[in-house]
Amino acid sequence: MEALRSADEIRDVNTRYHDVAASSYDSKWGIDFGAIGQAQVLGKLRKLVGPELDEGYGRALEIGAGTGYFSLNLLQAGVVLEATCTDISPGMVTTLGANAERLGLNVRTARADAESLPFPDSSFDLVLGHAVLHHLPDLRRAFAEFHRVLRPGGRIVFAGEPSRIGDRLAAVPKRSATALAPLWRRLLGAAQAPPRGGLGSADQVDHDLERCVDIHAFAPSDLGRLARRAGFTSVQVRGEELVANWFGWFNRALEGTAAPDEVPLLWRRYAYHGYLLLQRLDEGVFEPLLPPAIFYNLLVTARRGRRP
Ligand SMILES: C[S@@+](CC[C@H](N)C(=O)[O-])C[C@H]1O[C@@H](n2cnc3c(N)ncnc32)[C@H](O)[C@@H]1O
Repeated sequence: MEALRSADEIRDVNTRYHDVAASSYDSKWGIDFGAIGQAQVLGKLRKLVGPELDEGYGRALEIGAGTGYFSLNLLQAGVVLEATCTDISPGMVTTLGANAERLGLNVRTARADAESLPFPDSSFDLVLGHAVLHHLPDLRRAFAEFHRVLRPGGRIVFAGEPSRIGDRLAAVPKRSATALAPLWRRLLGAAQAPPRGGLGSADQVDHDLERCVDIHAFAPSDLGRLARRAGFTSVQVRGEELVANWFGWFNRALEGTAAPDEVPLLWRRYAYHGYLLLQRLDEGVFEPLLPPAIFYNLLVTARRGRRP
C-alpha cells in the first residue's frame, strides 16, 4: 500500500478500518466489562493519579472510546458520574451504545474527530483516552482541543500509547511467533487459518488497512512536550507493560495463524492468565525500576491550570 499522505486520508483510513473491526473488537482484544476489566482500567488510572481516583470525577469525555473499554468500566466502578464517549468511527460508536445498553449504563455518544470536538469550552472535569493518540494526524490540534473543553483545574489522562523503543522490542516476539507457528499448530493439532475473503475483496482491503492506522510511536518526552505546549501543567509520563507485552504479542501472533475454533480452550486460558500474572510482575518489579521509554505502553496525565 502507498504511504499515507494527508491528514484527511489518515482519518478516512482510521474510520474505515475501525468500522470493520468494531463488531469483533471485544473478542479480538479480550475486552472485559466485568470485575477484571474494571480492575485493569482502574489500575492504569491509579498509576497516574494516585489517591485522587477515590474522589472520582463528575463529567468525563472519552476520545476514541472504541467499544467503551475505559468509560463503561469507569461508570460501573463509580469513578465517573457522567460519561460522554466519542469516536471517529460510526461502527465503534454503535457497538459502544449496544454494550452500554446491555450493561444498563447511561452514556452520551457522539461521532467526533479528536481534533475538532463538538463541545463548548470548559465542559468536562476529565478528558481521557486509551490507545488513541497514536492514530491522530495533528496531535497539537488535538491537545489544544483537550485543553479547551476541559474546565480549569481539570485533568487529562491518556494511556496505552505505544512507545518507540517498546514498539521495536515487541517486533521480536511477533517475528519469533511467526517462525514457530507451524510447529505450534502441529503440537496443538490446530488447522491453519483460512485466507480472509479473496485478494482484493472489501474485507481483505479493510483488514490490510490495519497496517496503516498506527501513525505514531512516542518517546516519553514527546507526550510531555505536547501537553506542555497546549498549556497543561503538572505533566507526568509513565511506562507500563514489558514482559506481559512480549508474552501477549507472542501468543496473539501464534493464535492469529490458526483457525479461531481450533485453538484449544486450555491454551487460551494459559495465554490469558499468564498475561495477567506477568502484568503483576511488570507493575510490582519492573515499572518502578526501569525508565518509561523501554516499556511498550506510555501513559500521560496533566492538569489544566486554574488561571488562564
Ligand atoms: C485502538 S482503538 C482503541 C479503542 C478504545 N479506546 C479501547 O481502548 O479499546 C482506537 C480508536 O480511536 C479511534 N480514532 C482513530 N482516529 C480518531 C480520530 N481522529 N478521532 C477520534 N477517534 C479516532 C478509532 O476509531 C478507534 O476506535
